[in-house]
Amino acid sequence: PKSDSGYSYEDCKATAEWLKAQTSVRPLVAIVCGSGMGGLADMLKDQVAFNYKDIPNFPQSTVHGHAGRLVFGTLKGRPCVCMQGRFHLYEGYAIQKITLPMRIFSLMGVETVILTNAAGGLNQDFKVGDIMIIKDHVNMPGFAGNNPLTGPNDDRFGVRFPCMSDAYDRDLQQLALDVGQELGYGDFMREGVYCVLGGPSFETIAECRMLHKLGADAVGMSTVHEVIVARHCGMRVFALSLITNKAVMDYDSEEKANHEEVLETGKQRSGQLEKLVSTLVTRMEHN
Ligand code: 6GU
Repeated sequence: PKSDSGYSYEDCKATAEWLKAQTSVRPLVAIVCGSGMGGLADMLKDQVAFNYKDIPNFPQSTVHGHAGRLVFGTLKGRPCVCMQGRFHLYEGYAIQKITLPMRIFSLMGVETVILTNAAGGLNQDFKVGDIMIIKDHVNMPGFAGNNPLTGPNDDRFGVRFPCMSDAYDRDLQQLALDVGQELGYGDFMREGVYCVLGGPSFETIAECRMLHKLGADAVGMSTVHEVIVARHCGMRVFALSLITNKAVMDYDSEEKANHEEVLETGKQRSGQLEKLVSTLVTRMEHN
């Protein structure tokens, strides 16, 4: 089966095989870098990097703050692949294209996906610069029928109706909290629910209030689609948000969400984020 805007199993397999022929690295972990967090990829040793435009079937990244490279290498000896730049709904891609890399990673043997993003804080206890470990999500585009698994299901990837109540691996959440404590990051480590919207416009005040009432702690424009497809094909998922700005929740506020602030906060926390993710990778169990 091939959905209108998606890729067939054979297409995904062909890209996975193409990549395997270009590098001897066989990653067990894939890391997706959020806005302003591309430095995560620079941690990898013995890099073999590809521009997205050179990879068969790969969409291309267009956003400022996203490089558009797939980087293979090792993190303290562990084989990893890193997406430096990701694809978003607001760029106009079909939702199946945004999540295509997850299926390619799975076919290459990746077992665990680590996703990072920049997000606005809805939880009033959160501060700019907090790192929120994602424990659950609200898939707003999904409510409106925009789910990456829409279309014919290919059972070679996964089941028609995948469970999402266990999307975010509990052991990895606990490990990340423990590692954060050990590194002295306890004061700015949080847990919470991430809500995805289509973007690219930021939320209105009324929308922020609504999302907060619905149980979301942070709001952004990515990650959830990738999580759904990664879980569909059986990969283990860990995700975190860097709270780059506080969502505007009241009419007296002078604050305005903007992309520059998002990138600036990313820069300030980048060293600590890299340390957290690299320590997590070296400490987690690999099958
Ligand atoms: Cl405030 N909203 C959304 N949708 N995405 C963001 C954000 C806010 N801050 C960073 N990314």
